[in-house]
Amino acid sequence: MPTSRRGSGSVTLPTGQVLAIHTRTQDEGDLPHATKKTMADHLRKYETIFTLTPQRMRIVVEAFKETLELGLEKPKQVVPMIPTFVFDWPTGEETGDFLAVDLGGTNLRVCLVTLQGNGKFEITQSKYRLTEEQKQEDGQKLFDFCAECLKTFIDTNLGEGTVKEGEKLPLGFTFSYPCSQERIDHGELIRWTKGFGATNTEGRDVAAMFRESLKTHNVPAELTAIINDTTGTLIASSYVNPRTRIAVIFGTGCNAAYMERVGDIPKIKNLGIDDEAQMAINCEWGAFDSFEHEHLPRTKYDQIIDETSNKPGEQAFEKLISGRYLGEILRLVICELIDEGVLFLGQNTYKIETAYAFDTAGTVDDHRYFTHFFALETTLAERQFFRALAKLVGRRAARLSACGIAAIVSRMGYLEEGCSVGADGSLYNKYPGFADRVHEGLQDIFGDKGRNIVTYHAEDGSGVGSAIIASMTKIRKDKGLYVNV
Ligand code: GLC
Repeated sequence: MPTSRRGSGSVTLPTGQVLAIHTRTQDEGDLPHATKKTMADHLRKYETIFTLTPQRMRIVVEAFKETLELGLEKPKQVVPMIPTFVFDWPTGEETGDFLAVDLGGTNLRVCLVTLQGNGKFEITQSKYRLTEEQKQEDGQKLFDFCAECLKTFIDTNLGEGTVKEGEKLPLGFTFSYPCSQERIDHGELIRWTKGFGATNTEGRDVAAMFRESLKTHNVPAELTAIINDTTGTLIASSYVNPRTRIAVIFGTGCNAAYMERVGDIPKIKNLGIDDEAQMAINCEWGAFDSFEHEHLPRTKYDQIIDETSNKPGEQAFEKLISGRYLGEILRLVICELIDEGVLFLGQNTYKIETAYAFDTAGTVDDHRYFTHFFALETTLAERQFFRALAKLVGRRAARLSACGIAAIVSRMGYLEEGCSVGADGSLYNKYPGFADRVHEGLQDIFGDKGRNIVTYHAEDGSGVGSAIIASMTKIRKDKGLYVNV
């Protein structure tokens, strides 16, 4: 009998790569697992890689501030700082029935919002999950789908006679992708983000495309405003909490909006709007540090995500933060440890080796998660390691977001007086401790005064916010104020 080859080991190849080997027989149930100590050693390494020091954060804040300024000064910058033509804060007295269509990163939502005044409202809504095909097929088809859903919604939810013959309900279209706007009801898609790639849409006015679909499907709705989810969130949050000055979305994507004095937006000086008027700016900060990659601490995992994405080089800041990518960062680290022979030796790992197999919200410390989705056996020490790793990646995302918030706070001089930041999105709402990590980050940047800046769970910007903006726009235009924008 030849001697058995059973056991585990590794050899280093001439290229420096490590080849892990494990041999077992039919009789063996036990699988080799990494010891607690090995996992602790690895964790220390990743702690160094994913930790952002306060000094580093302050450097990022400075670069961020300069980038925001540049975007306000000149058109077509990497961070486009989009003037939205949403003027000033809501009064809380906006009233009426409004439709809202919200094309987000994952779902399509259709809403009927009744604004009752005094900061009160009622909302009825339907949700449809978008398929991967819909995100990539012809853009007009995507808008046709939105129009069909809206038609069905109106037919089922609005009683007969609600919309009179020949009349149309005002509609706010929350389209949460970077669009440069010449007026509130116009938006030229600069580029798709969040994995979308629908053809024949980039560079075109999505409002005109959607209007076309509404016409084809005979929908009694009049598109009055194109709205970004961050702008919607800013307005909806202020409707219920007037201390709000900034809104941030931490969802499939990451972005922020705030209110700027028109006189401080040099690139729209030619429009003749009063310098003292206030206008919401959709920052599209997810694009910070795109292409050049000069300012952000990117790891090799971030680089892999970028290079294998449908938009390499773009949305550099977003790719380190948003829910779409966090699970993937975690998975890439786990795959590295599989390759090094540290994890799951002797087990079949092909399921976990599929890109984007990891759901960010997945509970990585639950052993059923691994057995159920990936057919992998884990030990407690391994699961504790995954959990700690998930915390590190989430903490980095929160601290980077704090840098963006700090840049706006310091540009606008909000630190002394303090302000509220309305925040929304799956990451903010579901990732344990995310808000606390953002607050810690703000204190690391500003010291004790950082406590003056407080994030809170915002009001639904894409539905309610969109309706309030549609209403504010109607009131403004009825008053004859800047009717051409
Ligand atoms: C992406 C989009 C942006 C949106 C954000 C959050 O960054 O480009 O428009 O606000 O995701 O949904």
